Amino acid sequence: MAQLWKGRFKKELAKETNDFNSSISFDSRMFEEDIKGSIAHAAMLGAAGIIDKSESEKIAAELDKILSEIRSGALQIDMEAEDIHTFIEGELTARLGQTGKRLHTARSRNDQVALDIRLTLRNEISEIEEKVKQLISVICDKAEENKKTIMPGYTHLQRAQPITFAHHIMAYAAMLCRDLGRLEDAKKRMNICPLGSGALAGTTYPLNREMVADLLGFDGITLNSLDGVSDRDFCIELASALSLIMVHLSRFSEEIIMWCSWEFKFIELDDAFSTGSSIMPQKKNPDIAELVRGKSGRVFGDLTTLLTVMKGIALAYNKDMQEDKEAIFDAVDTVKMCLTAFTPMIETMSVLKENMRNAAAKGFINATDCADYLVGKGLPFRDAYKATGELVALCIDKNLTLETLPLEEYKNICGLFDEDVYTAINLEKCVADRLVIGGPSEQSIDNQIAAAKKQLM
Ligand code: ARG
Repeated sequence: MAQLWKGRFKKELAKETNDFNSSISFDSRMFEEDIKGSIAHAAMLGAAGIIDKSESEKIAAELDKILSEIRSGALQIDMEAEDIHTFIEGELTARLGQTGKRLHTARSRNDQVALDIRLTLRNEISEIEEKVKQLISVICDKAEENKKTIMPGYTHLQRAQPITFAHHIMAYAAMLCRDLGRLEDAKKRMNICPLGSGALAGTTYPLNREMVADLLGFDGITLNSLDGVSDRDFCIELASALSLIMVHLSRFSEEIIMWCSWEFKFIELDDAFSTGSSIMPQKKNPDIAELVRGKSGRVFGDLTTLLTVMKGIALAYNKDMQEDKEAIFDAVDTVKMCLTAFTPMIETMSVLKENMRNAAAKGFINATDCADYLVGKGLPFRDAYKATGELVALCIDKNLTLETLPLEEYKNICGLFDEDVYTAINLEKCVADRLVIGGPSEQSIDNQIAAAKKQLM
């Protein structure tokens, strides 16, 4: 397919150069946005009297046709074209002749591509937000069912204090709520229209840039034409928000993987979300969670690609910037795929409550509560801590737990102990009494669920 920039050149582009230079294989996915941007541009050219109104209308009508033909498959995108912008304009000109050639008045592919990416990513962000919301909602449902499911909470992967499964997974809901905020924030700065920046220096035509921005649903227009064409901060911000989503999914995946090991057996994944081994008949592997954890690497790589591509480019547009699309589209696609597989995996997993409760019974996770009991009887916390430490050592020696250690032994270590210590170290009570905002008590979880659900509206 012919290039748009023929006039100056005497020779055809070498095949190798064309293949290397072309971006159509990855920017053709922006055909909708490219056409909608062109329709708005044409309408503005007509309204401002830069081209004839009748020609502007013809262009818009034909672009509309091209759009529905590509959508239906009646028109194939030519993969030999230099990029999607070239293809659409070429197609329009093939159909409308002279009139088609007027579309690119007062526009450059530099501001055109900057526009197209913003429009494309704006839609992608909305899709990703929906998927994040679905996951938050599934987590809230699981939490609702597990407000009384006692499990050990960990630090250093050592059993630490009693919590509930609801409390544990609501931590992920909190992370994902922040992710939603970051996506919204990225969208805000992305939703500014660069069209009218031209190649780099704006244009002498009396454009109505606000009109184009309004037609395309932007919140405003860029104020410096060099920045308008050479800014890809919005790609980097999005890649960074997506990277954090992947950090969260990857940490959650890691726990899923641990929890379905024989060592933990806290959950069981549904058969539809697990895989077998080709040689070991007994195996049921958490491949989906492992893949999500692995794919986080791709998205971090995409972010690094974007940062590196942009860091040394003199103003304004340089062809390096064509590298933005593969990286950001890969990040977008990867996050969407991961969320699509991850959410139903969480929704369908079964929680093995008894195993969690049994694990909570070992590991002295009520030792802090035992110390707090002594504090309640008037002992300073440091002394209470020391006495409880001695009790734990004694239990380990005798192969007992704090629940099964006789009161006599308690009293030998500290005279303040009485029969009511057994109530104080009861795990259900330890959880129920942690009424502090953010804690594992039912009331606190209800608050956390309500707060998360507010973000879903
Ligand atoms: N395919 C190009 C890109 O993605 C479009 C802009 C081309 N502009 C130019 N001056 N060669 O960046």
